[in-house]
Amino acid sequence: MRNYRIRAFEPHDLKAIKEIDRVSFSSEQQYPDELYDSLLTDGPLRAAVAESAGALAGYALLDIKTQPVRIRSIAVVPGHRNKGCGSALLLDLMEQYDALELLVEKGNTAAIRLYERLGFVRLERDENSELGPTHHMFRRFKNASCLNEPPPPNRAATSRADGTI
Ligand SMILES: CC(C)(COP(=O)(O)OP(=O)(O)OC[C@H]1O[C@@H](n2cnc3c(N)ncnc32)[C@H](O)[C@@H]1OP(=O)(O)O)[C@@H](O)C(=O)NCCC(=O)NCCS
Repeated sequence: MRNYRIRAFEPHDLKAIKEIDRVSFSSEQQYPDELYDSLLTDGPLRAAVAESAGALAGYALLDIKTQPVRIRSIAVVPGHRNKGCGSALLLDLMEQYDALELLVEKGNTAAIRLYERLGFVRLERDENSELGPTHHMFRRFKNASCLNEPPPPNRAATSRADGTI
């Protein structure tokens, strides 16, 4: 497996992260620049990045104020896909956080395979839940006994523009 160095976001990563977002998602799916810019403030968002030969190969964007911690975006530069970069990012997050969750478009089979391979479990949800008709929710707990815990009650409905990945 190619070696990816996973580390926490640093301000100089911002431009490369936005570029990876741009080449990885359609214009409707892309987050506004301001969301990534908020990584420079003391807000709820954090990012982990994967480096290869000194360049950014991928990133994961997290909201650490939610419980479980929500992965709001993960993306890998096209030329680095299927080489273990996404797995390396997720494995790092799984070390750091006991409980993770994410929303993924139902047709994103590459991403869904990756999450399932790493032990994320799809929640049974009804169509009225957050993005229920279009997205699956996956969770991963270090302690698997709480896998089917309901989502926190005060979570506002979100869209790719402010909540999904
Ligand atoms: C989803 C995404 C982040 C996955 O990242 P990735 O770096 O390709 O993920 P990995 O390489 O770890 O795993 C992908 C596959 O490559 C395989 N793989 C891992 N290391 C490998 C290697 N060294 N050589 C060949 N294949 C390898 C994995 O086994 C996996 O196979 P599978 O699809 O049969 O399970 C990436 O496809 C992406 O950026 N997609 C666009 C944005 C997106 O959809 N993000 C997710 C939104 S929910």
